[in-house]
Amino acid sequence: MAYRRTGIKTSSRILLGLPLVLLAAGVGFVASGAYDVGADAPHSRLLSWLLQQARDRAIAVRSAHLTPPPLDDPQLILKGAGQYAAMCVSCHLAPGQQNSELRRGLYPQPPALAEQASDPRRAFWIIKHGIKMSAMPAWGASHDDATIWSIVAFLQVLPSLSPAQYQDIVRRAPPDDDMDMPMDGPPLPHGHDHGH
Ligand code: HEC
Repeated sequence: MAYRRTGIKTSSRILLGLPLVLLAAGVGFVASGAYDVGADAPHSRLLSWLLQQARDRAIAVRSAHLTPPPLDDPQLILKGAGQYAAMCVSCHLAPGQQNSELRRGLYPQPPALAEQASDPRRAFWIIKHGIKMSAMPAWGASHDDATIWSIVAFLQVLPSLSPAQYQDIVRRAPPDDDMDMPMDGPPLPHGHDHGH
């Protein structure tokens, strides 16, 4: 009887103690600064895999309910081409482009979007909300849903464009209106420049 009670006490001590030991190890690891956060030091294969699973599941769950508009509308595609050339090409490249100065140093690497198919719902969600701890911005902060769908429409045709066709559609595209918007911040005092 006495033997069995000691056995229970010992195992419950281990059960209670283990989380504390793990917590202390975790705090010690963070405090030691051992983890290299540099963008030029890749994650381990296991951590990369875990992060990718978490990212892909989060996006799949959150984007499943979205209803894309008709994405084969030529005007929508044309509008998206101008947006892509203005905001995305420096990271995601154009047809025939091998790399860019900005993209080379990014981790994770932005995928070359002329070389892969983009699922419309997944692309919309990522463009609107961005991805944490990566260079992918949340364009929903400065663009409405209709504009984001135009970019998604353009991504559907992008992999089929030659370098010359890409240049041509971008040249014909309407200018990116958002580039003309005043910067955030207090408006300049009216008439300030004209003296008083
Ligand atoms: C400063 C660099 C940068 C810019 C500018 C940028 N992105 Fe990204 N984007 C990224 C990075 C980095 C990732 C990969 C994130 C990851 O793997 O977790 C990404 C991922 C994506 C993906 C997900 C691809 C997939 O299915 O895995 C899409 C779609 C995308 N970006 C579209 C765009 C569009 C459209 C624009 C312009 C409106 C844009 N991005 C601008 C850096 C950028």
